[in-house]
Amino acid sequence: MGIKLPAVGPGVDTEAEEREELPPAELEYLDYRVLASQGWELDDEPFEKAARADLDERYYGRIEVDREETLLRSAEAAGLTWASQCRSGTCNVCTSVLDDGEAEMDMNLALTDEQVEDGLRLTCTCYPKSDRLRVLFNAYPLAAEEESGRGREPPVED
Ligand code: FES
Repeated sequence: MGIKLPAVGPGVDTEAEEREELPPAELEYLDYRVLASQGWELDDEPFEKAARADLDERYYGRIEVDREETLLRSAEAAGLTWASQCRSGTCNVCTSVLDDGEAEMDMNLALTDEQVEDGLRLTCTCYPKSDRLRVLFNAYPLAAEEESGRGREPPVED
């Protein structure tokens, strides 16, 4: 006969059980680089424009995101390729813009508090906190604009 103590402490994810019980979130994604190629503005409904633009699913679409999975891993599980490097919240290469919904990082050593307040998130350490969310991925240039960004240039793609 013993006393059962709750599992707490470093390395113990106390919210994991809670997340597992929730249904997957719906993630609508858009490649930030599409804005430049299409001449769209970040604050001028880019998702509405993308929905009408018949873009390839590499650049725009919807996927389900398990609550206990990061946005980056969910995108990769769906066959998508999003920019990343350290995969541990330290380089900012995986920076995204949270356009709608809620998503929280469990590690962030790359973005400033102001950048997070402005909606930037690291997809490698970020979990959905709402049923639906919209994210502009490959938004590294926005993180790099700040002098305090500690990241490095992302690898060249395509
Ligand atoms: S890949 Fe480096 S912070 Fe996400």
